[in-house]
This record gives sequence, C-alpha cells and structure tokens, in this order.
Amino acid sequence: MTAFALFYTLHVLAALVWVGGTFFAWMILRPAAVAALQGPARLQLWGEIFPRFFVWVWLAVVILPISGVAIVHMRFAGFETAPRYVQIMMGLYVVMVALFLRIQGLQLPQLRKAVAAQAWADGATIMGHIRRLVGINLLIGMAVVALAAARPMF
Ligand code: HEM
Repeated sequence: MTAFALFYTLHVLAALVWVGGTFFAWMILRPAAVAALQGPARLQLWGEIFPRFFVWVWLAVVILPISGVAIVHMRFAGFETAPRYVQIMMGLYVVMVALFLRIQGLQLPQLRKAVAAQAWADGATIMGHIRRLVGINLLIGMAVVALAAARPMF
C-alpha cells in the first residue's frame, strides 16, 4: 500500500465514522428513543451515548486534517495549487470542529449535571440545543462528503 493510499483510506474512514455515526444518531436513534423511552430514561441514555461516540469523533477530528494535509501535498503539491473545493472542505472542517467542541465542552457537562441532579426539564432544554448543533453538523458533514465526491471544477 502506498503512503497516498494509506492517507486517503484513513481520511475517508474518519469521515465515514463521524458523519455516518451522526446520521445514525440523528435519523435512527433519536426518533427510536422518543418512541420507546420516557424523558428521564432518554436523557440518561444520551448521557451514556455521547461520551462513547465522542471518543471516535475525536479520533476523526485528529485524523482528518493530518491525512487531508498529506493528500494535499501528495496530490496537489501544496495549498496554493489545491482546488477550491479542498479549501472549502478545510473551512467547513473548522466549522464542524467548532460546533463539536461546543457540544463536548459546554453542553455535555451541562447535560451530565442536569441528569445527576434529576433536573429533567433543564436536561430536556440542553438536549434541544445539542440536537440542533448535531443536526447542523450532520448537514455540513454530508455537504462536505458530497462536495468531495463530486469534485466540482472550482
Ligand atoms: C483540514 C481538513 C481537511 C483537509 C485538508 C481535506 C483534504 C482533502 C483532500 C486533499 C482530498 C482529496 C481530493 C481529491 O482527491 O480530489 C479529500 C478527500 C475527501 N475528503 Fe477531505 N479534507 C478535510 C476534511 C474533511 C472532512 C471534515 C470530511 C468529511 C466530514 C472530508 C471528507 C472527504 C472525503 C469523503 C473525501 C474523498 C472523496 C472521494 O474520493 O470521493 N474531508 N480531502
């Protein structure tokens, strides 16, 4: 396996884990949890899900720029000559990481605190904020993958 193939594979797998995991959480797990569980049990479940999933998101957050920059150098000989869509991909990566850090650093501790205090109404409000940011990240992530796959000529 060449170094290029290794970095490319790692890059695509990292995107798959992050965006695919987010898709499953938002589109499948969320409505299933609403259908099957009462509010408190649902908040407890999400309190268990997020830290587990976020370990993998952290891995993707680290792997994507390292492998991406390696691909840029091997395929396009640097950032100046890289196509526009790669620069857009990098910009959207920064937005995705910013939203993820907000959930991880601010909202998840708030959710944990609300669950520990059994403050279910507060927990539901915080969960609403998390849900919105995760939804935005899902849309951006899918747009980035579509952009990369389409490789538009700009
Ligand atoms: C600093 C961040 C990033 C850099 C520098 C970067 C760079 C690149 C480069 C240079 C390519 C190859 C383009 C080509 O061969 O024409 C690529 C492909 C790809 N990138 Fe990124 N990327 C970054 C972030 C992301 C993110 C956040 C995602 C998704 C969430 C993503 C998903 C993909 C996918 C799926 C491909 C493969 C497209 C295909 O082969 O069809 N990248 N990236």
